[in-house]
Amino acid sequence: ERGSAADLTIEKSNALKPKPDPSTLVFGKQFSDHMLTIYWSEKGGWEAPQIKPFQNLSIHPATSALHYSVQLFEGMKAFRGADNHIRLFRPMLNMERMYRSAERSSLPLFDKNELVQCIKKLIEVDQEWVPYSSDASLYIRPTFIGMEPSLGVSRSGHALLFVIVGPVGPYFATGTFNPVSLLADPRYVRACRGGVGAYKMGGNYGPTIAIQAEALKQGCQQVLWLYGEEEEITEVGTMNLFIYWTTENGERELITPPLDGIILPGVTRQSLLDLAREWGEFKVTERKVGMKEFLDALKGGRVREVFGAGTACVVCPVGSLLYKGQYGRTKRDWAPVIV
Ligand code: COI
Repeated sequence: ERGSAADLTIEKSNALKPKPDPSTLVFGKQFSDHMLTIYWSEKGGWEAPQIKPFQNLSIHPATSALHYSVQLFEGMKAFRGADNHIRLFRPMLNMERMYRSAERSSLPLFDKNELVQCIKKLIEVDQEWVPYSSDASLYIRPTFIGMEPSLGVSRSGHALLFVIVGPVGPYFATGTFNPVSLLADPRYVRACRGGVGAYKMGGNYGPTIAIQAEALKQGCQQVLWLYGEEEEITEVGTMNLFIYWTTENGERELITPPLDGIILPGVTRQSLLDLAREWGEFKVTERKVGMKEFLDALKGGRVREVFGAGTACVVCPVGSLLYKGQYGRTKRDWAPVIV
């Protein structure tokens, strides 16, 4: 079948770039020598996948991805183990989410297994770009864009699925396990019920940058996204959110908001839930938590940990919170002060 991994062609770059020192890596600024592209059109279906030298795209100025955000992406990682083997982290979960995003974006559907095979081939070609380090990894960015060269708001008859990869270090410049501070302001919303917050579309991320800048202006590093009348705690920055606390009944519980349409179904989120349930050491719950319930727990000294979880940062502890002019730490020493 066309578009399958068996049809993949490979054109090797003859100008290989120097690899960066793993200790200097930041997030998302460096890219490997090759990329994967797979074109699709209404008339011809999927074309043969191509691995070719990393290069700019040539795009019609009316391209639907540029005008109407007919676009989606994924984020996944490959790690080099102590045994020198390269492993992808749960790639089928990304493929399944990507498939759902494609459906919601009116982009053509694809074979998830074939795409993973193509991605594996790309990583094999660029295997020296997988850092020889346990603090770094190869970030993989599958992207799928509508390429309809027309200004009509309609289903794209042309599309491009491409994958770029690059070595990454910690997502935050402050390092991997340094707690971040959050701005929680109910005036700002990341996603709405009935909207597309559960899909990994670029349009969910671009508009958060200005609010992130507002957080920085107020002395915080990230945004805690609240939603609705009850100021439900939903996500943090670009990550899912977890709270580990003692309930009012004195039980230890790990809690995260449910996948009810406004939460991105994170692969790290799922993995943490799977692990915690397997351990069976504490209650593991997916349910809504409102700001009031959270603040009561903070004031009662019942909150043990708050953290964000995502592919880019993996797990990121939350150290403090600014909410309606009150500043508090997320640990037992909560002390509301007016700023
Ligand atoms: C994450 O991995 O946490 C992300 O959401 C990726 C980010 C760079 C958009």
